[in-house]
Amino acid sequence: MTLKEGFLWGGATAANQYEGGWNEGGKGPGVPDHIRGGTVSTPRTWDMEIDPNVYYPSHQAVDFYHHYKEDIALYGEMGFKCFRLSINWSRIYPTGMEEEANQEGLAFYHDVFAECRKYDIEPLVTISHYELPWGLSIKYNGWTGREVIGHFMRYAETLFTEYKGEVHYWLTFNEINNGTGAMGRILSLGMLGKDGRPMFGDPETPEEINDRFTALHHQFVASALAVKKGHEIDPANKIGMMTIGHPVYAYTCNPKDVIAMNEEMNMRLFYCADVQVRGHYPFFAKRYWEENNITVRMEEGDEEILKEGTVDFLSFSYYMSSAASADPEVTKVQGNMFSGVKNPYLKASEWGWQIDPEGLRILLNQLYGRYEVPLMIVENGLGAVDERSEDGKFHDTYRIDYLRSHIEAMKEAVRDGVDLMGYTMWGCTDLVSASTGEMKKRYGFIYVDRDNDGNGDFHRERKDSFYWYKKVIASNGEDLD
Ligand code: BG6
Repeated sequence: MTLKEGFLWGGATAANQYEGGWNEGGKGPGVPDHIRGGTVSTPRTWDMEIDPNVYYPSHQAVDFYHHYKEDIALYGEMGFKCFRLSINWSRIYPTGMEEEANQEGLAFYHDVFAECRKYDIEPLVTISHYELPWGLSIKYNGWTGREVIGHFMRYAETLFTEYKGEVHYWLTFNEINNGTGAMGRILSLGMLGKDGRPMFGDPETPEEINDRFTALHHQFVASALAVKKGHEIDPANKIGMMTIGHPVYAYTCNPKDVIAMNEEMNMRLFYCADVQVRGHYPFFAKRYWEENNITVRMEEGDEEILKEGTVDFLSFSYYMSSAASADPEVTKVQGNMFSGVKNPYLKASEWGWQIDPEGLRILLNQLYGRYEVPLMIVENGLGAVDERSEDGKFHDTYRIDYLRSHIEAMKEAVRDGVDLMGYTMWGCTDLVSASTGEMKKRYGFIYVDRDNDGNGDFHRERKDSFYWYKKVIASNGEDLD
């Protein structure tokens, strides 16, 4: 058998895209609750005041809040060993600034974890998945304010204490490297700017770029402090980092393209992973800061904190790769947070993401070679439009093909010698897309009756991929037919 005993097979979700119940159970608004839906050509925008006449996808999402028993039972039926979910920060601390946690919010996740235990499913909890409480965004311009570290620590400590023994696997920040680019401004760092600003694609001022790198530094410090605290509270905790795994190839063997590739890989991937796994900023950071007029506002003692708070494992999302070129004229493609140069050897999904199973093997080798810590794939999947067939079922063979090819590539990497802990497919139950806010971009094994405009009764249905994944898990990845 290629994969080890106890390999963590499962699925992944995020509260703001899955849970709904945005103002129930004492929950306060989070940043995503202010973001409207969009499409691939119409960027999402956000509102300072929530407009009751507007549809905000996160408000009900796909209503896990009222369907969690049913969903977890379906995960049990598929044989999940692991379920990745995030805790909605503003369900626990409604504005982010309260001294006392919201008991109803805490109780909800106790119920969720108890349900997981019934089916021997290990929860993997993301502490912050693009879910900053709105109160902190407004008060401090998100993570720009150093005070947010303290608010985060109160929240993280509450979770470690409250769920001790119920949760053993944690991730501090989802896709922390999103903050290295403008895409991460509001989503990842909760940084505002003018009202109604598009989530993506609006140019930043030099001051905003500067602040963004300080905000990211604050997340590094917060993550390191949380890792330390989490180990103190329960030495059995395994606490990981989470990054966008987006390998970049040189478009040609022109050395200039190779330099362009190195620069992209450095800033997109290694900048954050080096800090969180090795415990210090990488060698190339200084030059990047200087050339981009960036002054990261660090305090004395921060370097020590980063050194002491390195993670136990490295996890990542993997959807696609792209290429890099020194020639500004070459064709670009859309991407998962980062875009890049089109690779003529690859096909793309309906949303323009280039499908590259072998890139997963390449990335696993690169990451393991550099860091030598256990790795985990915590997101991978195909966003596609699912049409009901004449027999009334969803025959999503395209999704099975996508997943099969990626699992095969992942097994090759394990044969290469990579230490891999698990694989949680993204959006195991259909949920709202993070980049576009659409429902029609579906990833799930489980169909949810809900559309882009908020119509539908939320009932769940098994797709063909549901039965396929069940076999995959039962055979520990040996039966991929
Ligand atoms: C990752 C995020 O970027 O990719 C998820 O961690 C997101 O939150 C996923 O949903 C897929 O992206 P999208 O835009 O298709 O939802």
